[in-house]
Amino acid sequence: MTYPTRTLPMAALALVLSTGVALGHGDVTPQPVNTDGLPELTDGWEFENPFRDPSGEYWERALRIGSSAYSQNCARCHGLEVVSGGLAPDLRFLMAEEMDDEWYMERVRRGSGDRMPAYEDLMNQQAMWAIRTYIETRPDPDAMAEHMDRLRAIRDGLRDKQEAIAAGTATAEEYSDEIADLHEELSAIAVTIPTMSGAEKADSIARRAANILAAGGERSLREADETLTVGLSVSR
Ligand code: HEC
Repeated sequence: MTYPTRTLPMAALALVLSTGVALGHGDVTPQPVNTDGLPELTDGWEFENPFRDPSGEYWERALRIGSSAYSQNCARCHGLEVVSGGLAPDLRFLMAEEMDDEWYMERVRRGSGDRMPAYEDLMNQQAMWAIRTYIETRPDPDAMAEHMDRLRAIRDGLRDKQEAIAAGTATAEEYSDEIADLHEELSAIAVTIPTMSGAEKADSIARRAANILAAGGERSLREADETLTVGLSVSR
């Protein structure tokens, strides 16, 4: 089986370094994963991702915990945002179904070969499934590519609004209709983006930015800008 490789753009590299994660094979202390808010899994090891259902109670939380746990523990080998730079397999190709869940769990628990570490003693089962949830919801880059120009334009527009507010020539309230429209547009884009794993719902930057803008206000402009900026630089 071969895996497509992608090079890590500079912005992504800067993010990797700034989050304290080292690239390459140096010793990196595994980070404990806080799984507060996820349910106890008391029936032994699950065969299938218990957080998979996007309409389920725990999907959003699993995604958030998984995103951070992945960045701290897996990204240095498997790539930022699960876009492999070639050091290790691209995990986006694992199917979101029981067979590949088993394959995933086996490798994460016990490791594989001499470069994939075993995590059984380092994190609990909830953390492993949270990371699984994050991995399987990565958006299809080809589908994202079609929206990049528009997402970049939206990002630039968010920046203009922040500048106008900073300069005192406009207020966040005056932009509330426009922000609501952008929320709608980003949500509409988000639902067209598939995953590569077959998982039902992709966690794209369009989805994240739409969620942030739902809150409205100046802070949402800044956070949506940041989310789009990081995403635009990583998913190229
Ligand atoms: C030090 C580098 C490194 C780290 C850190 C690492 N992996 Fe891996 N991983 C690898 C390598 C290399 C392989 C391929 C092993 C092989 O071919 O036997 C691999 C394989 C895998 C596989 C099997 C993929 C496949 O397509 O067969 C899974 C699943 C996996 N890793 C998940 C994770 C998760 C989840 C994390 C974080 C909790 C993680 N890995 C952290 C290097 C790493």
